[in-house]
Formats: sequence, C-alpha cells, structure tokens
Amino acid sequence: MSKLRIHDLKNHIGEKVELEGWVYNKRSSGKVRFIILRDGTGYLQCVGFIKDVPSEVFELMEKVTLESSVKVEGIVRADERAPMGIELSLINLTLYHLAEEYPITKKEHGTGFLMENRHLWLRSSRQVAILRIRSEIEQSFRDYFYNNGFVLVDSPILTPAACEGTTTLFETNYFDEKAYLSQSGQLYLEPACMALGKVYCFGPTFRAEKSKTRRHLMEFWMLEPEVAFATLDDVMELAEDFLVYVVSRVLDRSKEDLKRIERDTSFLEKISKPFPRVEYKDAIEKLKKLGSDIKYGDDFGGDDETLLTEKEEKPLMVHRYPASVKAFYMEPDPQNSDLALCVDVLAPEGYGEIIGGSERISDYDLLLKRIEEHNLPVSAFQWYLDIRKYGTVKHGGFGIGLERTVAWICKLPHLREAIPYPRMLYRLYP
Ligand code: 4AD
Ligand code: MG
Repeated sequence: MSKLRIHDLKNHIGEKVELEGWVYNKRSSGKVRFIILRDGTGYLQCVGFIKDVPSEVFELMEKVTLESSVKVEGIVRADERAPMGIELSLINLTLYHLAEEYPITKKEHGTGFLMENRHLWLRSSRQVAILRIRSEIEQSFRDYFYNNGFVLVDSPILTPAACEGTTTLFETNYFDEKAYLSQSGQLYLEPACMALGKVYCFGPTFRAEKSKTRRHLMEFWMLEPEVAFATLDDVMELAEDFLVYVVSRVLDRSKEDLKRIERDTSFLEKISKPFPRVEYKDAIEKLKKLGSDIKYGDDFGGDDETLLTEKEEKPLMVHRYPASVKAFYMEPDPQNSDLALCVDVLAPEGYGEIIGGSERISDYDLLLKRIEEHNLPVSAFQWYLDIRKYGTVKHGGFGIGLERTVAWICKLPHLREAIPYPRMLYRLYP
C-alpha cells in the first residue's frame, strides 16, 4: 500500500498515522508547540503539548529548522479552524535531515534572487499551488483530446526546417547537417491527420525570441490538434469547446489551489460558449477607438492585445488576419485572397493570444508558391508538399501555449511563474 499523504487524512479521523514531509512553519507558546508539515498535497498543523509528548520530541519541535525533512506520527483530529479541517496530535517526530538556514523566507525577495533560486522557490506555497494547477491544466488538455477521438502523435524535436518563421530558430548541429529545435509540431501533424483523421501533439517547443516580455519564453509547451476535412469554422468551434472544458475542469478540481493564490474565480466562471468573434479589420477599428496607433496591415503587439481584451469577459476570437503577417501555410480566404483563414484566440482580462490556428493550404501549386515567396528551402519541405499530391483535403488545427493558459487561469503577471524552470532571454540557470 502506498504511504499516506496529507490530502488523504480526511478519511482517517481518529486514527493513528505516519506521514513524511518538510517543516513549512513552526511556532511555540510555552506549553504547546506547533509544526506545519507540508508534503506537496497540503499543509498539516501538528500539535505537541509538553505534557503529552516525550521530552525529546518536544525539544526537537523547537530545534527543527524550516524545510527540515521529518516523519510525524500522531492521531488525526477534526478541527474546523485548521486549513484542511484537520490537525495532528503529535506522538512522535523523527528528524531525517536538519535543513540549513533556508534562503527563501516570508519576506519579499527580488525577482532576480527568486529566479536564481528557482529550485528552492518551487517549495513556496504559491509556487506549489501554481504547479499543481499547471498539472491539472495539462491533464485536462490531454483528456479533452483523448475523450474526443484524437490520436496522440508525437512530433520530433530536431527538425530540418522552420515552421513559424526563420528569425526565431534555435540552430544546432546534426552530424554534418544543420538542425533546428522544433518551433511547432504542426507540419508533422498534417501528414498524420491524413493517416488518422484527428490527431494532436503535445510537447516542448523552442523559439529564440530576442524580446524580453512577460509573454515570451524561449522554451514553452504547446498542444496542437490537427483535423482532416476541417474548415476555419471547425477550428474555431474546436478551440471554443476545448477552452470551456479546460476552464470548467480546473474550476472543478483545483479549487483549493486557486484559493491559495487568491484567484478571483468569478471571471473564470463566465467562460462559456459562444465566444465573441471579430474579424481582424474590425479589431483594428476597435483598437483605434481605444487609442492605439495601429494601422490596418500591422500585426498586433502585446499592448494591442491587452487593450483589446482587458474589458472582455470571454476569450475573443480574432479571425482573418492579412496573410502578410501570418505563416506561409495558411489557406487564403476565397472572398479576399489577401486574408488568411486563421484565428487567434485572445484570453480575457488583458492576457492576449493563447491560441493560434488556421485552415492549411491544400493545393500543391499554391503551397509551393508560398514556400518560395517566403524564401524557404523547397527541398526541406518536399515531404510536406507531398501531402498535397495524394488525396489532398481541407484541414486545419491550432496550437495552444500551455504557459500562457496557466498564466491566464492563475492570473499571473509573468510567464516565468507558469513553468517549473523558465528559459528566458539571458536565463538558462538553474
Ligand atoms: O501562434 P503560434 O506561433 O502558432 C503555431 O505555432 C502554429 N503552428 C500552431 C498550429 O496551428 N498548430 O503559437 C501558438 C501558441 C501561441 O498562441 C502562444 O500561446 C504560444 O503558442 N506561444 C508562446 N508561448 C510562450 N512563449 C513564446 N515565445 C510563444 N510563442 C508562441
Ligand atoms: Mg500566433
């Protein structure tokens, strides 16, 4: 049988139990001493009265330092005042390792210091809650696609060509060839959806973004579905249905953690279908009215996305951007070939783009033309062009950035807290 953990205790009231963990906090008031134990599933107040515990245990409760690893034994008591409605009447305390003075304390630390100590910062209650929510979001990502008939197709990390523009490629050596770290698994999913109908991939992706913003990481996780016979409308519907599922799942299963980080969940409770949809050209007009100096034809900057979404209650789906600001593989709008059949989903509360997707070019000659226009090496894309030679069909999909989703759902000010070990401009340690 597996060992008990703090979140299991509600089913063990009145029983004698043993638990392992770390000393999160402690206090003392003469005849009684308290240790708050943490184990990654919760926080447990352990109480030792001088008259009830052996004297060496009472002394150890005083001597033990924050973050020391310990085993506690005691009786589980229901107590309404305790954070989880439970506390432990201590019988025994075993010290595994006495921690040195812990560098991260309750006082405010600078961001540089926290990032330098990310491996320790992870233990803070806020970071623990965020990591737990991230894990729930990731699981909900996978479950949605699994439950809806998608097949997981893992895409490679080492690739011979660019997917999302050549300016953000991380280059590496592949024996005598050049290789690039994957910017997106999409190009590999398109052939796979011709084999399996509905597919998705989920993995780390890499972009050498030479910009220092709260929205950009060099390494981030992206889930990408790709669907054969799908149009832009199908892609938008899928994105909408998927996001509603993810948010409701997190609201349902991560209540405690959302509370710990003081997320006002009333915003998340409003996420339901349908999401507002707006064409790029109308979004430009709206931005101008809101005071932006953006012009038709420009891509949105981070500030524009914030301006567009800070008053929104639901994700905003902006579709049909000019093809000139988007990737080479997007199908042109038959009504106006200067526009791409694409959508960006912008998260509300000012968060901005979390999803980018489109219908893909299905015609061989047009795709070849686009590859040439973008000065991409045709030979490296021959396999990708091949798909358009054998039973080509309309198809489309999107990519959702995990960290941007976590940042929005947790209302984080910066992506660096949304991933365990962020890779940012000038940060590769730890
Ligand atoms: O809009 P992007 O570049 O789209 C693609 O990569 C497509 N190939 C996806 C597809 O259609 N299969 O990226 C998709 C999402 C963005 O909306 C954003 O959430 C996230 O990936 N993203 C980043 N997240 C963190 N840091 C970065 N530097 C990011 N770049 C993109
Ligand atoms: Mg994008």
